[in-house]
Amino acid sequence: MLKVGFIGWRGMVGSVLMDRMKAENDFRDIEPLFASTSQVGQKGPDIGKNIPVLQDALDVKTLSAMDIILTCQGSDYTKEIYPQLRNAGWKGYWIDAASRLRMEKDSVIILDPVNRDVIDKSLSSGIKNYIGGNCTVSLMLMAVGGLFKHEYIEWLSTMTYQAASGAGAKNMRELILQMSSIGNAAKDLLDKPSSAILELDKRVLEIMNSSSFPVEQFGAPLAGSLIPWIDAKMETGQSREEWKGYAETNKILQTKKQIPIDGICVRIGTMRCHSQALTIKLRKNISIDKIQKIIQESNQWVKVISNDKENSSKYLTPSAVSGKLTVPVGRIRKLNMGPEYLTLFTVGDQLLWGAAEPLRRMLRILVDYMK
Ligand code: HSE
Repeated sequence: MLKVGFIGWRGMVGSVLMDRMKAENDFRDIEPLFASTSQVGQKGPDIGKNIPVLQDALDVKTLSAMDIILTCQGSDYTKEIYPQLRNAGWKGYWIDAASRLRMEKDSVIILDPVNRDVIDKSLSSGIKNYIGGNCTVSLMLMAVGGLFKHEYIEWLSTMTYQAASGAGAKNMRELILQMSSIGNAAKDLLDKPSSAILELDKRVLEIMNSSSFPVEQFGAPLAGSLIPWIDAKMETGQSREEWKGYAETNKILQTKKQIPIDGICVRIGTMRCHSQALTIKLRKNISIDKIQKIIQESNQWVKVISNDKENSSKYLTPSAVSGKLTVPVGRIRKLNMGPEYLTLFTVGDQLLWGAAEPLRRMLRILVDYMK
């Protein structure tokens, strides 16, 4: 059986991955070894079969015995360990959730429902590094990968509404702390329905701007507000998150001619679902019926939602999608600008298709490939 080393399995993405692997019985076909940077020698996770105690995630010799290493530990770990492993002559497969190696020439960004052809070709040509994509990009491609495949997209602009989870577990906690801080400050006015609405509004604003409001992680109020910036600034004026939309999409699809993709990425007060409003310039006038059919048939998780208030409110929201693999796509219609201008809205769980699921599926692909 293939020896697979897991690192960073205890964090948020790692935990979602473990749950999904257990649900799909993925541990049955591998010999797993769990490594840790801080709890060497302790008991590993319960995966329904006997496993050795936790190994040292910084021990290159131990890791070199693995056929596959799967890490959700983050870019700093990858930066430190990956070169040491390759320099020591390790020839195994590296599956990684972090962005560190994503844009390297000898890495493939994995999203198999969209780029299985690229993955298969890369396996045949001996590529050993398979890296999960940026969550926003992966979710956008799960939604409209079919339109890219048919080469219908001339350019695409995405305006995002990104969840706290994309910034990390501590940020999710801070969002709820902010919410409860607002709720506590407003309680007496809420309890009195006759209180003036502008008084309530003033109270909320006061607490949000007070020095006791918890903003250590986000640096600004998110609950009751939003933050129109995610990640570092690029020379172009884009945020790094916005830059990834262009760079990673074209790399995932291995487009011959780069497709322009750009937009504005915004953090909003949801927990783990990213939403995006897309504006697409089509290469030609294609009917809405045909567009819906292509989207619906592009993979088994995407779900076209009819363009009306009831269905959009029921199925096209973070609260409807959280914890699910379904990727709804709705509000599909042509824009006033002309018949080649399409808009749509899509939502996806940032921790599932945006992070853990492409890694889990890549491991499966490798297990089948190396049989
Ligand atoms: N960078 C993304 C975000 C999550 O901040 O929402 C990871 O892909």
